[in-house]
This record gives sequence, C-alpha cells and structure tokens, in this order.
Amino acid sequence: MHMHIREYLEQKREAVDRFLESVIPDATTQPTTLHESIRYSLFAGGKRVRPILTIAAAEAVGGTAPTLAKTVLPIASSLELIHTYSLIHDDLPAMDNDDYRRGKLTNHKVYGEAMAILAGDALLTLAFELCSRRDLVDGLAPARQVQLIYELAVGSGNLGMVGGQVLDIQAENKDIDLVTLQNIHKHKTGMLIRAAVRMGAIVADAAPEQLDRLTGYAEDIGLAFQIADDVLNVTGTREELGKNANTDAQRGKKTYPTFYGVEGAKALADQVRDRAIAHLDGFGPSADPLRELAKYITARKN
Ligand code: IPE
Ligand code: IPE
Ligand code: MG
Ligand code: MG
Repeated sequence: MHMHIREYLEQKREAVDRFLESVIPDATTQPTTLHESIRYSLFAGGKRVRPILTIAAAEAVGGTAPTLAKTVLPIASSLELIHTYSLIHDDLPAMDNDDYRRGKLTNHKVYGEAMAILAGDALLTLAFELCSRRDLVDGLAPARQVQLIYELAVGSGNLGMVGGQVLDIQAENKDIDLVTLQNIHKHKTGMLIRAAVRMGAIVADAAPEQLDRLTGYAEDIGLAFQIADDVLNVTGTREELGKNANTDAQRGKKTYPTFYGVEGAKALADQVRDRAIAHLDGFGPSADPLRELAKYITARKN
C-alpha cells in the first residue's frame, strides 16, 4: 500500500472535525458563553493526533469496512474532547500560566478563568457522553462499549493523564532524575495516547495478542511524542508552535533536552519511534498509517 501521510492526516482530520461539528452545540445554544468558549478551543486547529491514532488502530485491526469507519468516529472524537480540556486547564494561571495555544490566546485569556475551568469540565463530561451514546455506535456490542468507556477513564484520570499532570507540577524547580521524568511523560502524555490506540483496537474487535502489540506501539509513540514536544519547546518559535516557546526552561522544568541535549533527545526520539514501529511487525499493510504516524510524530514542526 502506498501511503501519503499528509493526505491521510488531512482526510481523517476533516472526518473528525465534521463529526465534532455535528455533535457539539453551536454558539447560540444556552449557556452561550460556555458553548462559545468550548468551540473557541476545540475548533482552533489542533492536529487531532489522538483521534487519528484511534482510527488508524481500528484500520490496522479490522480493515476499512464502512460500518467500522462510522462507529469509530464518536470513540475517536471523545479523545479530542479530553485532550482539549486538558490543554485548557494546563494553560491556566494555576498550572502553566500560558497565553497562547493553537495559534490563539488561551481560553482563560479570552473567557476568564471561571469559564475556562467550566469549559474544560464540560468537555471532559461530553467525552463520556459521546462514548456512551447508543445511537452513534451502530453494531457495537454493549460490553465493548463499556470496555471503551473504561479505557477512556483509565487514560484520563488519576492514574493516567491527570496523575501525570500532578507529577509534572510537583517536579517544577526540582532536580529530578531520568526515571522520574520518564514516569511523568508516561502519564501526562502517554496514557491518553495509549487509550487512543487501544480504543481503536477494541472498536475493531482486536484479538488479545493484537491488543498487546498495539499497546506496546502506543507506549513508545507516547514517549516519542513527548520527547519531540520537549525538543520543540527549545527549538521552535511561537509562530511555528502556536504556543510560546522556551517555557520549560523558564519554569525550571527538566526535560529530555536537559538530560541529553537537543541532538541527543532527537536521536532518542528516533530510536523510540523505531521501537514503536517494530511492535507492528505482525501486521500487514493495514498498519501502514500507524507506521507513518510514528514517523510524523517525531518529525513534526508543531
Ligand atoms: C500538546 O499536544 C500537549 C502535549 C500533550 C504535548 P498536541 O501537540 O497534540 O496539541 P494540538 O492538539 O495539536 O494542539
Ligand atoms: C501538556 O503538557 C500535557 C497535558 C495537557 C496533559 P505540557 O504542559 O508540557 O505541554 P504544552 O507545552 O503546554 O503544550
Ligand atoms: Mg503542563
Ligand atoms: Mg503546558
């Protein structure tokens, strides 16, 4: 299969955006400020990496049956709702205190802190609403649906992304070691990416062994993703990133470039990427999008 990752990403991003547009209330829905604030961040131009990983994992397992393509969208999109909520809260003054995100002022800069907190809360809740709606997941066994909701909860919560955010904040201005840094990355970024891939596999009825291999892939690309994010924080500009650069150093955060230097961190990301791709050895061409996504994640400029 000849894969053009750019076209693939664009096509899937559009499918996710169309789906989100169809389920997120418009800005005239009461309370209007809440819905404006939700839409401001959700439709600000995120890359949609997590939902695209869900779709690609489903394709790797189960081909491209039309019913699968439809069923996977609400599941995939739920990850983007959680991710966007996590970014809105991550940018708050009590957390990273950032002014720019996705090329625009951060949510709290426009709508105020109270609305930003509430928009995040609503997005988090909406993610679970989307996953539990029966009308959107035609043909999916109810037990599968519960399993998906469980994966989303584990990836997002106290032992997942939220737990990682706690570790990240507690590490500020501390002389942490590499194992501690790995553990922060594994949770704050890795667990949601892990959930994204696993949820795609589960929608497509993956066999236990396939699920294990895809989980190995996911854990590696999650790490590679955050190493790349650390590197971009040093090498990128606000124009490229859509968010302020160099903020990790300003906040006294030790990152992969602190331990390995920029070049060393880049080399390590490439190594982890290759290890991720090796987990897919048992899969044929249907896993090419996952292979290409691993390369994209480490080569991206934003
Ligand atoms: C940024 O995530 C925050 C991290 C977890 C590193 P993305 O790089 O996926 O951000 P968007 O969604 O494209 O804005
Ligand atoms: C964001 O991590 C991770 C989550 C929101 C879970 P960072 O704080 O390191 O990422 P940026 O630089 O704000 O995107
Ligand atoms: Mg942060
Ligand atoms: Mg941040």
